[in-house]
Amino acid sequence: MKTDFYRKTNDREFPSNLTDYDEMYRSFEWKYARKELDWFGDKLNAAYNAVDRHTHTWRKNKIALYWEDEEGNQKKYTFEELSVLSNKLGNILKDFGVERGDRVFIFLPRIPELYFSFLGILKIGAIAGTLFSAFQEQALADRLGQARPKVVITNKELKSRLPRVKHVITIDTEDFTKSLEHASDELHIAEMDPDEYAFMLYTSGTTGKPKGVMHTHRAILQEHMTAKWVLDLRDDDVYWCTADPGWVTGIAYEILGSWSCGVSAVVYAGRFDPKKWYELLEKYKVSVWYTAPTAIRMLMAAGDTLVDERDLSALRHMCSVGEPLNPEAIRWAVKVFDKPFHDTWWQTETGAICIANYPCMDIKIGSMGKPIPGLTASIVDDNGHPVGPNTEGNIALKPKWPSMMKTIWRRPQKYESYFAGGSPRSSSGGAGWYLSGDHGMCDKDGYFWFIGRADDVIKTSGERVGPFEVESALVSHPGVVEAGVIGKPDPMRGEIIKAFVVLGKNVKPSEQLKEELSQYVKKHLAGHAYPREVEFIDKLPKTRSGKIMRRILKAKEMGLPIGDTSTLEEY
Ligand code: WT7
Repeated sequence: MKTDFYRKTNDREFPSNLTDYDEMYRSFEWKYARKELDWFGDKLNAAYNAVDRHTHTWRKNKIALYWEDEEGNQKKYTFEELSVLSNKLGNILKDFGVERGDRVFIFLPRIPELYFSFLGILKIGAIAGTLFSAFQEQALADRLGQARPKVVITNKELKSRLPRVKHVITIDTEDFTKSLEHASDELHIAEMDPDEYAFMLYTSGTTGKPKGVMHTHRAILQEHMTAKWVLDLRDDDVYWCTADPGWVTGIAYEILGSWSCGVSAVVYAGRFDPKKWYELLEKYKVSVWYTAPTAIRMLMAAGDTLVDERDLSALRHMCSVGEPLNPEAIRWAVKVFDKPFHDTWWQTETGAICIANYPCMDIKIGSMGKPIPGLTASIVDDNGHPVGPNTEGNIALKPKWPSMMKTIWRRPQKYESYFAGGSPRSSSGGAGWYLSGDHGMCDKDGYFWFIGRADDVIKTSGERVGPFEVESALVSHPGVVEAGVIGKPDPMRGEIIKAFVVLGKNVKPSEQLKEELSQYVKKHLAGHAYPREVEFIDKLPKTRSGKIMRRILKAKEMGLPIGDTSTLEEY
């Protein structure tokens, strides 16, 4: 196969933060990055590093956040204002009895209060959890029921979906406005051990309920360094990350790593809309843009004239994450923006970018790039043995990197199951490999290529959905006996969710029922994780031990050979 390159020319006048990848990869050790952050002796606080430390510098009155919503409402906050407002939030939480190690969850759309809350929670040493605002009551009950937060911060509209929790703070009430007014702007910042928890995120695997991935304050070290090396963030940048803090990208690169670099960030609290997006890029003179392949494909489909009408000359650097970035998307970007998107690979569990294309490195179009300095990545077999170049295997990382998850909340065995040859917590002390759940290969030049998921996890519009959650939601419908859910390849969304449904004996299949089932999941589980396609089926393919073989549903759907069926129950 012939590889297409995008060759970089070195800009001598404005060199990127990372100028020589190979040299840095050879010589870098994490201890050298220590001075990039502010420490309290051996302790640190990730939120303090993201925001408060800048208030002791000239950045004090610099805009940290430009916020805008769909109705055109606009707000802006300096680093000083973010620092004060998050202090106030921290004090309000303390009044609710929140202590170090308590969980506080945020269930809010992307409004400024979400950001103050997140920072305030970390600043008092509590653990922040974020919940995507599209979640409905079942998804919320599963997550909150397991995390048992002391407080949930929400608004009037979303509150009605919540299960019973200890305390609820509703931000669009007079009560809250008053307590924000009265709360002190001074707060003692919790000095945290780098290994203490800072935030948690629920994410899905193939089976079982979503897993609470735990991250520590140390994560900011890698979030900061990758924001510098990969996103190439600099002091004069206006930076727009299009992710929602309900997912890890919005935490690591809209709050922690990016603000730690001192940039002005743009947050748009609205739905995807090509025209609006270009308008924002122009209006705020966005210079660095971090987005996702589904959005890029939708922009491509919206046509080039929309771009040509805008002055996007401020745009210097563009990156992508979350799902495979098609070569056509890169070629299109070079055509219309005169620069490529740089693919980055990482996961909720890795806490920060792990494999990436750098501004100083030629891009092999279609490849995810190379591991960040300070991290060893490899392709290994299921037992953790490296397989050599150009061979398919598991994308694996060598523990520990600073932003690696510390555990899975209350499910230590789940955590262990990520590792081949022993986790850092096991007696081997981390001698093994972390297996990502992705298949890929590495070429002779050390570039990594994504092949696909090793498991049944679905990636729809870049969002990670566990088939089990959707199946459970479907079978809770009175007409459904069983359901098997897969990701069906889709040219725009990467994958869409497709459900194969076995109906009860007396239930009549109809197009209307298909629509009803799809809406049922949307209403009870999540606004983004519902099946766009439903197919009725007499019987699901299962193993002899009764597990649904989604692999076979997928092969049939795609008209592919169904492969090894030796463990299949008679079908
Ligand atoms: C999964 C992790 C971490 C940011 C958001 C996703 C897929 C991620 C890429 C990429 C192909 C990618 C993988 C991975 N993925 N980046 N550049 N190319 N696939 O976090 O929701 O935990 O999902 O997203 O399958 O395992 P996440």
